[in-house]
Amino acid sequence: MKLVVLISGRGSNLKAILDARLPVEIAAVISNRPDAGGLDLARAQGIPALALDHKQYTQREDFDNALIEVIDRYQPELVVLAGYLRILSDSFVMHYAGRLMNIHPSLLPSFPGLDTHARALAAGVKIHGCTVHFVTPTLDHGPIVLQAAVAVRADDTPVTLAARVLAAEHCIYPKAIAWFAERRLLVQSDGRVNLRDDSGSEQTLFISGSPS
Ligand code: GAR
Repeated sequence: MKLVVLISGRGSNLKAILDARLPVEIAAVISNRPDAGGLDLARAQGIPALALDHKQYTQREDFDNALIEVIDRYQPELVVLAGYLRILSDSFVMHYAGRLMNIHPSLLPSFPGLDTHARALAAGVKIHGCTVHFVTPTLDHGPIVLQAAVAVRADDTPVTLAARVLAAEHCIYPKAIAWFAERRLLVQSDGRVNLRDDSGSEQTLFISGSPS
């Protein structure tokens, strides 16, 4: 199965996906920022790595249409957002309906948007985490595939909490992509995602750490 991965920055999720050696072909990695560190990671593995600079476009739709054109050259079955930090136009999302996945650093539907770790700490939650979901036009919304829960510690700062959540992201994103590639993800009409052929031994919730 062919994937295209979209990034904006350092690409640690991209690295986790590459390191997992999934039975998929990463046909291209595309960044909206020419200086994204993740592009070098891809190049080092011989994967086509391209930048399409959003600053060259005044209209979001125009940029997204150009991005669609580049992505579709590779004919991916799945487009993976791995730290792609741009809001997508509805037409982009609809073009890839059912085959556009994202990872978000919170337990959705809590804390969509930015600064999730600081907001979780400010809210006093005891459990935080990350979510892999299919993308729909509503920001950080859509059928949830997999989540990882991370215990919040009394002395956490946004930086320490982000580091533990990121480690959890690196566990669950490759897993979710593997399930998609195995055609095991069934999105129900009510938006729930079921895992086909689940013997009961597989987890759609990972729990990391314990409260202190
Ligand atoms: C990750 O924490 C990812 O969850 C987040 O950006 C970071 C990218 O890190 N994505 C979002 O906030 C999307 N709403 P990475 O470049 O090292 O993978």
